[in-house]
Amino acid sequence: MVVRVRLFVAVALTDRARARIADALGTSVPRGLPGRPVRPENWHITVRFLGEVGEVERDLVVHALGRAELGGPFRVRWSGLGAFPRPRRATVVWLGVDRGEAELADLALRVEEALEGAGFDPEDRPFRGHLTLSRIRPHQDVTPVVEGFQPLRFEMDVDRLVMYKSHLGRGGARYEVVEEFPLD
Ligand code: 2AM
Repeated sequence: MVVRVRLFVAVALTDRARARIADALGTSVPRGLPGRPVRPENWHITVRFLGEVGEVERDLVVHALGRAELGGPFRVRWSGLGAFPRPRRATVVWLGVDRGEAELADLALRVEEALEGAGFDPEDRPFRGHLTLSRIRPHQDVTPVVEGFQPLRFEMDVDRLVMYKSHLGRGGARYEVVEEFPLD
């Protein structure tokens, strides 16, 4: 039997960033974001979702990312809220970055190249660096929340890429660190 695991690679949040973002949301959106919030311990910026993979593929990815030139460390600056597909019909509310976007996109491109080299199909969605804060079903108009949020404007160092295994359960997803790939 092939054991399959659900994997993604992401930029993890520092504890300090997590606490500051949680504080800002508590102040600006005291009754909470609409929809189903992502718990702060699960916050991350997805760089590439890998889906359900078997052990052989997982080892291939770990090997490919371990050898890849992922680029050096950089900083992101957290900014304001946004929504997918758009605030008037939001299904995802996210926190964006205004500095470090190009570096995030470059990291995603380097990951993509490494994965394609390892035989993975190319990602078909364009990369948009974001931190998902809430998922909404059915969609809602979140324009007042997004527009009322004061951009954060504080920075966070990014010095590694993290591979997570996602455990889906009734209490929501739990993410376990599988590997870390330093940016240097
Ligand atoms: P999102 O936050 O932008 O929705 C773990 O599921 C992470 O992988 C989520 O943060 C999610 O990004 C991302 N992801 C990307 N594509 C996905 C997909 N097809 N299914 C589930 N998660 C996906």
